[in-house]
Amino acid sequence: MPRRKIALIGGGQIGGVLTQLIALEELGDVVLYDIVEDLPQGKGLDIAEASRVDQFDVTVKGTNNYQDIGGADLVIVTAGLPRKPGMSRDDLLITNAKIMQTVAENIKKYAPNSIVIVISNPLDAMVTLCQKVTGFAHNKVIGQAGVLDSSRFATFIAWELGVSVKDINALVLGGHGDTMVPLVRYANVNGIPVMELLERKYKDAAKAKEVMDAMVQRTKMAGGEVVKLLKTGSAFYSPAASAIAMAKAVLNDEKRVLPTCAYLNGEFGINGYYVGVPAVLGANGVERVIEISLNEEEKNMLNNSVEAVKVLVADMDRLGF
Ligand code: APR
Repeated sequence: MPRRKIALIGGGQIGGVLTQLIALEELGDVVLYDIVEDLPQGKGLDIAEASRVDQFDVTVKGTNNYQDIGGADLVIVTAGLPRKPGMSRDDLLITNAKIMQTVAENIKKYAPNSIVIVISNPLDAMVTLCQKVTGFAHNKVIGQAGVLDSSRFATFIAWELGVSVKDINALVLGGHGDTMVPLVRYANVNGIPVMELLERKYKDAAKAKEVMDAMVQRTKMAGGEVVKLLKTGSAFYSPAASAIAMAKAVLNDEKRVLPTCAYLNGEFGINGYYVGVPAVLGANGVERVIEISLNEEEKNMLNNSVEAVKVLVADMDRLGF
């Protein structure tokens, strides 16, 4: 098999961890692009110099030149600026949309056959814009949010129940914001409904619901919880790990079922928007969206989340993107 080439656009916190994880798993040769001079070269060099110790045999090239991403099989985008004090939502959207526009133009130019995973926030808007500017098929431009949100939900459930997180299945749908929808009814421990186990633990249905509600709320706010503690940035280990799970599914044609920010053509009754849903990920990116039955309450929550995505997309239109 020819060596695969993975381009990372954005060499900040997430970009650095992505590079290291790709190297450790020998998923492919890495090109790490950033607009800041010398930063990606420095990170690339540092990680490459661990190759003997960690026994990986891939090249890691830091660059400020888009030409170097030429022919990449997979591109992961983390470029963007974080929200600064005093910055409005529109200001952030304009800043990051401008960055995404340039990034996407260069992906189109130099890596026209790639599959793109977007991590930059605001996620749902950035994926939408990236697809629009590249003109790539919708299934080839996807967003990372649900794998992380679901992993956070699963982690909290494992802690609460005192069982291995490896046995937890938890799914979060919707946009990547406060309106995301952690699906309580589908959460299980190797098939056993989590609510059943909570009710057994507390011997009180109301208390079990209260505990679950708190975990749902913590999941929705989990990004902010980390920001508050870190003070100088946002989560980067877990977003990177989540994107790597998606990257592996694509590069190795794994057909994994992962919550993905995917373009919907009528699935879940939603048409023409990128929304977090379970999807089969393989060599063609999103190969299939998996529809699941939702009750009225879940449908309402998902529709509410889609409304938030629509506002973001309308804002981008209004701002000229
Ligand atoms: N082109 C390429 N890279 C850029 C550009 C640009 N036009 N503008 C900024 N960058 C780079 C920055 O120089 C920085 O190195 O993007 C990188 C972003 O890195 P961090 O600020 O460390 O952010 P990180 O924690 O990696 O998160 C990246 O993912 O989860 C989201 O909200 C998060 O949008 C953010 C993104």
